[in-house]
Amino acid sequence: MTQDPVVPSTARMIDYWLGGRHHFPVDVTAAQAFEGAYGPCAAIFRSLRDFSGRAVAHLVDHGIDNFLVFGAGVPSQGNVHEVASGSHVLYTDIDPVTIALGQEILADHQRAGYAFGDATDLSSIEPEALTRFLPGWGREPIGVVFLGLAAFLDDPTLARTLARLHRAVPPGSMLAFDFDGEELADHPVALAMMGDGFHMRAPAGFPDLLGDWRLTPDGIVPVARWRAEDPPADVPDAFHGGVALH
Ligand SMILES: C[S@@+](CC[C@H](N)C(=O)[O-])C[C@H]1O[C@@H](n2cnc3c(N)ncnc32)[C@H](O)[C@@H]1O
Repeated sequence: MTQDPVVPSTARMIDYWLGGRHHFPVDVTAAQAFEGAYGPCAAIFRSLRDFSGRAVAHLVDHGIDNFLVFGAGVPSQGNVHEVASGSHVLYTDIDPVTIALGQEILADHQRAGYAFGDATDLSSIEPEALTRFLPGWGREPIGVVFLGLAAFLDDPTLARTLARLHRAVPPGSMLAFDFDGEELADHPVALAMMGDGFHMRAPAGFPDLLGDWRLTPDGIVPVARWRAEDPPADVPDAFHGGVALH
């Protein structure tokens, strides 16, 4: 069993908001403090996870069956391998506690695994993990899932990272992405809780960061409205996202 951490993680706070079981007291304290400054979060993160589900299902519809997930967080509550249930999925993250938790959750899973991976440095992913969990790596189109991560990278780092990912995967690959809009600017106490390394972005500027990834006609929209159910979830436009093609 993973030992209780002393530092909260945004990924495990999301698990708490989604009603999951994979978080610790320190995450609950941080999540409740954030809600005190911002307001209820559960519906917002449910709508974000629902967007993830629709985007992953869209990639599956395009024939993708190998998924490389960055900043993966907790692999439950409708995460990638639960939606793309017949696919091969490698989840990666840099937070050791979340990685250990993910490896526990996926211990008995044949086609999904979890490994350390810094999105800004593809060589940080163990080749054995890529070979074992992504049999198509280097040969077949890859679904690159880049959700909940852009906020932690500045513009030059994000653009460089997306460009490297584009070079690393073959034609036919697809990218699912999201990013934090500027809504949190209206909640300065909550914004301060996210720290200095937190980056909000205006949707109009995001296509420039995509480089050679080609945005689909669905465009970049608030996540609740991306190929939405009718009617879309009624939540603040905190996150925007879309899908892009190699
Ligand atoms: C907000 S959580 C998102 C979790 C999950 N993708 C989701 O949407 O629920 C962000 C995650 O990104 C991870 N992270 C931050 N910087 C990273 C980096 N450079 N490479 C990979 N993961 C990173 C954090 O450890 C954290 O688990």
